[in-house]
Amino acid sequence: MLALGIETSCDESAVAIVDGNKNVLSHKLISQFREHQPYGGIVPEIAARAHLEHIDRLILEALDDAKIDLKQIDIFAASAGPGLIGGLIVGVMTAKALASMFRKPFIAVNHLEAHALTVRFTNEIEFPFLLLLVSGGHCQLLIVEGVGRYKCIGNSLDDAAGECFDKVAKMLGLEMPGGPAIQEFAKFGDPKRFSLPKPLKKKDGCDFSFSGLKTAVRNKVDYISYRGASKQDLRDLAASAQEAIINHLIDRTKNGLEFIKSKNLKSLVLSGGVASNELLRSNFNQILLSRGIDFYVPPVELCTDNGIMVAWAGLERYKLGFSDPLSFKPKPRWPLDKIINNK
Ligand code: KG4
Ligand code: ZN
Repeated sequence: MLALGIETSCDESAVAIVDGNKNVLSHKLISQFREHQPYGGIVPEIAARAHLEHIDRLILEALDDAKIDLKQIDIFAASAGPGLIGGLIVGVMTAKALASMFRKPFIAVNHLEAHALTVRFTNEIEFPFLLLLVSGGHCQLLIVEGVGRYKCIGNSLDDAAGECFDKVAKMLGLEMPGGPAIQEFAKFGDPKRFSLPKPLKKKDGCDFSFSGLKTAVRNKVDYISYRGASKQDLRDLAASAQEAIINHLIDRTKNGLEFIKSKNLKSLVLSGGVASNELLRSNFNQILLSRGIDFYVPPVELCTDNGIMVAWAGLERYKLGFSDPLSFKPKPRWPLDKIINNK
């Protein structure tokens, strides 16, 4: 069984061909950060146009690398939401056109579900599991009961974790994407130099909040700039901000660990772009190891947006009998707990 997956929901155009035995036959990806860099953030119209410009070539190159013909593809999957509508339309229309031409199933993949299921591509892991999904647009703690079956137990009250990384990076004058830039810049910084607030500290529940943290960093930037900030000042602030964001993610996830026992969950999984953060991965690993909880996180290149996760999620859905009509409309907003049967 061969799936072709298309990812165009944000600023990465990607195409992958994956088989049912978890082999990647090919994967082609173009990041658009250079196009958006001059504007300091992702510009939806530029993103949509760039996807349109790249997608056909990426598909041809993916087929070439895999040495297969379009006729051999069994299912065509595309990220159909949530995301920027212009990009979603490009990916969904392309997958639908191919599905219709070759009379093969079209699978509308929820982008968050693709992040959630990636770990089943890279590891032998069974449902149910606890998932911390941390990306540029989402920060959620979920119980994953099965394909299409999610229960959200924690959500961000304001910004997503990745958004916080991106905004802090911008304040510090770092390039996009912000998360990896902070990670690199913070390597020679002192995370204890600046004291930052601990959001929702001692509050029950698993919700997250990053806006207070973001404002506190803004104030520190203003304060050190007033005196003429040195590069070391900025490195120390980057390291302090990174640690504060990670500690908040850990703090709130700890509140969710009670579900591991009460719901008989098998493990904890980390996914989404922010899950590629080295410090977050190693801190999670240590904490969960010490508590005897199995911890899984996909390799870094499969945490950030990619085509493999879309092709794989398409296969997972198709194996359960799900496919979507060509009338399916992309959904800019599409919460994970509303995806049973894609209704
Ligand atoms: O999952 P993703 O590629 O796209 C969305 O679905 O949003 O996540 C992108 C987010 C961006 O905010 C980016 O800054 C963040 O993931 N990110 C990181 C790292 N790599 C990517 N954040 C922290 N540390 C990283 N190493
Ligand atoms: Zn994503």
